[in-house]
Amino acid sequence: MTVLVPTMGSLHRGHQALIKRARTVSKEVIVSIFVNPLQFENKEDLEKYPRSPQLDIELATLAGATEVWFPEYEDIYPGEITTLSAGPIGSILEGKSRPAHFDGVLTVVNRLFEMVKPTHAVFGEKDFQQLFLIKNISKKVEIISVPTVRGGSGLALSSRNARLSEIEQESATIISKALTAAALEKSIESAQRTLDDLLGQEKAFTKDYAVIIDEKDFSIANQMSQKKRGLVAGWINGIRLIDNMPMNAGHQS
Ligand code: PAF
Repeated sequence: MTVLVPTMGSLHRGHQALIKRARTVSKEVIVSIFVNPLQFENKEDLEKYPRSPQLDIELATLAGATEVWFPEYEDIYPGEITTLSAGPIGSILEGKSRPAHFDGVLTVVNRLFEMVKPTHAVFGEKDFQQLFLIKNISKKVEIISVPTVRGGSGLALSSRNARLSEIEQESATIISKALTAAALEKSIESAQRTLDDLLGQEKAFTKDYAVIIDEKDFSIANQMSQKKRGLVAGWINGIRLIDNMPMNAGHQS
């Protein structure tokens, strides 16, 4: 069995959790590190994406990777690119703000799967919509998901956090605080209100969306929804941040 952990590098404890989970499945764990231009709709974001290859090798190896693979653009896209479509769910929420982002993600993941032919692949829950879409296209590779790893303040670990100042990181904790408070609410309406109220209190945070969705199909959650999740996205000083948590609202126990 071979487990692939696809990443864009700038590894942190969140990625290490994916690698450790992969090692529970197989002794052969390949970590790919490729900053995929196809999934960046914004040239500046691509250029500014943090890169730390030497540290990545150390962190991946420490977590149990048996191979750290840095493919070149030409390896992944040797000829004309056949782009995969993420369909309707790829163009809502994250996909609405980042047109063609998920087409780019699915295209590269599909290429990585074609090249490595893993039996399993591991992805984080932090990119919840991405995880959903990858699960949908993956016929031969078993997808394993790993819960989001957080810093002591609750902030979801992300490579982009490296671009936030200390004060901005403090402001960014409003996202996990709002999701945690909303998760305790008894109804979807009060959970939504809590999300909106708390996020609105942090001046440094510009909200893109804060919604509670049905995990089955990403529609807005209602009383019939079994599993509900709060999804939040926005910017601090132009840096995009996303997070999500399961919501208990309306849960019948
Ligand atoms: O989640 C990421 O880091 C990327 O979207 C992925 C899955 C490695 C594809 O480039």
